Amino acid sequence: MKKLPLAFPAAAMLFAAAVFASVSYAQTPPAAGGERHGPRNYPAPTNLKVLPKDLTGKQVREIMEGWAGDLGVHCDTCHAADPKNIGPNGRPRLDFASDAKDEKEMARIMYTMTEADKKDYVAKVAAMDKMDEPAAPLTCGTCHRGHLDPEKFTPAPEHPQQGGPGAMPGMQH
Ligand code: HEC
Ligand code: HEC
Repeated sequence: MKKLPLAFPAAAMLFAAAVFASVSYAQTPPAAGGERHGPRNYPAPTNLKVLPKDLTGKQVREIMEGWAGDLGVHCDTCHAADPKNIGPNGRPRLDFASDAKDEKEMARIMYTMTEADKKDYVAKVAAMDKMDEPAAPLTCGTCHRGHLDPEKFTPAPEHPQQGGPGAMPGMQH
């Protein structure tokens, strides 16, 4: 398998697949006769600005399912619906090439940041640790952990000193 630009935890992929399976986001209508169980045909991307331009439709799809899983969102968080393209379920299909949604542009910035972090920083630490690959690859999920807005991190309150508050000399409560 060709190495994808981002490594995704298997769990995130499974989650994304489950999310995807529950909603109909087919971009193209099924072939005449409805090949429902045959291999899906993913059109080659036409509007990649940050991902490698030579990715196949299937590779882009796998990356997208990873992002959706890492952020705990559906495809329509970043991709705008096309009201002129109504699917079999009566709902508009998504226009994946459209740049109408801010979230899509934000995701481009995030992807660029993540790739730079991996190359310029994480890889250097892994090299110091004498590892070919970092022990914990940096992904969208490293920060987002299944949320569109990364949760604010609050450190646990410091463990009380033995003897309870006031046990430390000079500390007044
Ligand atoms: C967090 C935002 C985000 C989510 C969620 C997301 N995408 Fe994307 N998608 C993008 C961005 C950004 C690009 C463009 C990447 C680039 O510019 O290189 C893109 C590009 C695409 C493209 C290529 C379009 C073209 O012709 O250039 C397809 C197809 C696509 N996404 C499908 C999906 C599917 C299917 C899902 C749900 C499983 C999904 N996306 C979820 C942000 C997202
Ligand atoms: C180093 C941590 C980090 C990584 C890695 C990261 N993000 Fe983010 N992301 C953030 C933070 C922090 C914000 C919140 C910025 C703000 O205050 O709006 C954010 C915001 C976003 C938003 C906007 C959310 C909104 O409220 O509309 C999107 C979309 C997004 N990230 C997508 C991604 C994608 C896709 C990836 C992987 C390609 C990624 N992020 C990787 C930290 C990260």
